Amino acid sequence: DWTMAGFRAAKIEEIRKQVGTGRVICGLSGGVDSSVAAVLIHEAIGDQLTCVFVDHGLLRAGEADQVVGLFRNHYNIPLVHVNAEALFMNGLTGVTDPEAKRKFIGATFIDVFEAEAKKIGGAAFLAQGTLYPDVIESVSFTGGPSVTIKSHHNVGGLPERMNMKLVEPLRELFKDEVRALGRELGLTDAFVGRHPFPGPGLAIRIPGEVTRERCDILRKADAIYLEEIRNAGLYDAIWQAFAVLLPVRTVGVMGDGRTYDFVLALRAVTSTDGMTAAAYQFPGDFLPRVATRIVNEVKGINRVTYDYTSKPPGTIEWE
Ligand code: XMP
Repeated sequence: DWTMAGFRAAKIEEIRKQVGTGRVICGLSGGVDSSVAAVLIHEAIGDQLTCVFVDHGLLRAGEADQVVGLFRNHYNIPLVHVNAEALFMNGLTGVTDPEAKRKFIGATFIDVFEAEAKKIGGAAFLAQGTLYPDVIESVSFTGGPSVTIKSHHNVGGLPERMNMKLVEPLRELFKDEVRALGRELGLTDAFVGRHPFPGPGLAIRIPGEVTRERCDILRKADAIYLEEIRNAGLYDAIWQAFAVLLPVRTVGVMGDGRTYDFVLALRAVTSTDGMTAAAYQFPGDFLPRVATRIVNEVKGINRVTYDYTSKPPGTIEWE
């Protein structure tokens, strides 16, 4: 019989066999997947593992503290916290094409991992929390001709020159199974229940050019949206909710003045595996309340819209 406890034991054996006495670098993105992969690999090989958390300046509000706190204080797993904001932001200057953003971010992650590997005397392996849907969607569109929809940074976004071998213990799993494995490994419900967050972060939630200023505006709006969702008790009913900052300005009026600011789109979907999704229907006055708060509290945004598109034909993220 297949059980999560059995899967855990089998994977631990497999990881030990694959890496032998080699050193492993694990890229933590702040999401559930890479965290579960790291805890599992640490159980298998202990201090042969070094976790690297790359703050690319494209994280949500408070995210870095949550992840660093969990690993250092709760698990006592060695963790290197790299502040690479300038590196990523400078490289993204002038980049507007979605695939170009993804490719640049994937390649830059690898540069950072390789630099960290060098500091610990080299690492033969790079561990990632790649899931089954990441593999499928980066490779081809189900049922159709082979077309890449998006290069997920941990699959299609990897540069070919990468010389570390990949360790991807979650490659056969869907999200709900990763959450179950996380619980099996002792992660709290609050942690494993967190909404998915893509490796390229806020860069793919800002169509057009990504700047530090736009990231700051988006971070504030996104935090208000999620705070309202949590306060309304809706967080666990939603697969993923986030805000998207559109590079479009519209005219508004505030007090007795004219405004000319960005448009924000709110997205919330239900899904079981991220492969298909439906727009979440918020109750009553929820969305108008959030829109009012965001326009009042976030300088730079004067209009809020809601995205009702399902997947397909839309994707969950905007890029
Ligand atoms: P899409 O936008 O393709 O997203 O419908 C499906 C799910 O995958 C997440 N996603 C990513 N996760 N690296 C990740 O780790 C990525 O590059 C990436 N791109 C999208 C997305 O947030 C959604 O949950």
